[in-house]
Amino acid sequence: TTARLTIDARFPIGEVRRRLFGGFVEHLGRHVYDGIYEPTHPDADEQGFRRDVLELVRELGVSMIRYPGGNFVSGFRWEDSVGPREQRPRRLDLAWHSTETNEVGLHEFADWLDKAGSELMLAVNLGTRGTLEAIDLLEYSNLPGGTTLSQQRIDNGRQAPFDVRVWCLGNEMDGPWQLGHRSAEDYGKLAAQTAKGMRQLDPSIELVVCGSSGAQMPTFGEWERVVLTHTYDEVDMISCHAYYQEHDGDIDSFLASSVDTDRFIEAVVATADHVGAVRGSDKRIDISFDEWNIWYQTRFHDVDQLSGIDNWPVAPRLLEDVYSAVDAVVFGSLMISLLTHADRVASASLAQLVNVIAPIMTEPGGPAWRQTTFYPFSITSRLARGEALRVQVEAGTIETAKYGTVSAVDAVATHDAETGAAAVFLVHRGRHEPVDIAIDISGFGDVELVETHVLHDDDPSASNTLEQPDRVQPRPLEGAHIEGGILHVTLPPIAWAALALKRIG
Ligand code: AHR
Repeated sequence: TTARLTIDARFPIGEVRRRLFGGFVEHLGRHVYDGIYEPTHPDADEQGFRRDVLELVRELGVSMIRYPGGNFVSGFRWEDSVGPREQRPRRLDLAWHSTETNEVGLHEFADWLDKAGSELMLAVNLGTRGTLEAIDLLEYSNLPGGTTLSQQRIDNGRQAPFDVRVWCLGNEMDGPWQLGHRSAEDYGKLAAQTAKGMRQLDPSIELVVCGSSGAQMPTFGEWERVVLTHTYDEVDMISCHAYYQEHDGDIDSFLASSVDTDRFIEAVVATADHVGAVRGSDKRIDISFDEWNIWYQTRFHDVDQLSGIDNWPVAPRLLEDVYSAVDAVVFGSLMISLLTHADRVASASLAQLVNVIAPIMTEPGGPAWRQTTFYPFSITSRLARGEALRVQVEAGTIETAKYGTVSAVDAVATHDAETGAAAVFLVHRGRHEPVDIAIDISGFGDVELVETHVLHDDDPSASNTLEQPDRVQPRPLEGAHIEGGILHVTLPPIAWAALALKRIG
């Protein structure tokens, strides 16, 4: 089969903001303890952080990292996580039926981020706490000094403020599983009050209000409308969360998951713009896609197995999904969807980072390795620069049970006007035949190929494990070449690819 694509720097979508390549670290399972932090590991630094993990996080190229939850945040008292370690309380984490030791807290995590070269994004607890506690945390974090809370931060070792720019007003407040879950009406009022108070303290922060936990939520759409009606003037972004998996062997629908991401984003943008129109407001609300990934929620019942009044383990193995080559292809296509909406998706966070539905896995006392999904993230984060460009795609179609007729090929491009560097990101959803793709890049002028990567495996279920950490890796895309302004590539079935171009002369 064949496909024809046209890319032109005159079809810009919007700037590729670095925050699109964010991550998420939740106190959950072995993410923090026995993940990023393992003081007894031979490769631990003086603070107990694993150097090998830090190196992989830097290689992944994550910009801003959301912390400390997730569902965890809705039962969290931030004060527990600061001050002398030996005085920090041990608490129950009801969301994940675990014990939180608070050995790693705000200061330690901020130190880790400094080492990782990433920015801190904080979520406040609006499930079981309220406006005052959120303002207190903001004061503790961002006020230079002169008050009890800011002095506490200084006494706890941080003279300069953390200067946290982006704040989430709670987590998944539409979800019945959330501690303190409430109606859109009640949450909208609480979020608006909290946002106002936080802005009274620091008007320069950016605020994210909770949207839906997924487009499949029964309240989806109406939740956004009601919440934004209360908070429109007070917030900058509304969140989207989406997780995908293969259901009942329906691989075609799974491979088309990014169609759902596209529709989800477009529906939230439409709803936000509707609220703006009703209010006669010029202000535009952007999206913080602050949880996205592949997650086999039906395959892993580990959390449900944790129960009992006397069973609250520290750092149990939870949500340790092992990703296949197919998962990585779908994952890459989700990144294409985010870039395709770079005009309205201001920020996004891959959920999560280490051990817990993660691109990086670790073994206690042992090695750290890259899951299959590591590669599309690290390559896209490194190559997508400048502006995202709309790609005209003419390709065959695939019938899917979930999303109807979808294109067999999807793509997005980026172009950096300053350096002339360009990149093309492609997904081939077809399962049986390779596809020959002719990409008209004549609009770029004289360019040459500098890098090609294809992620595909003849065994789509192949994965990277402790025993075989490098089983699935991207390879150079053989045969890719430019002739007369046309870039020719052949993609195998079920493949994700990235190509980098540079201006000649
Ligand atoms: O990322 C795992 C969980 O998924 C998060 O804690 C929650 O926000 C979402 O439901």
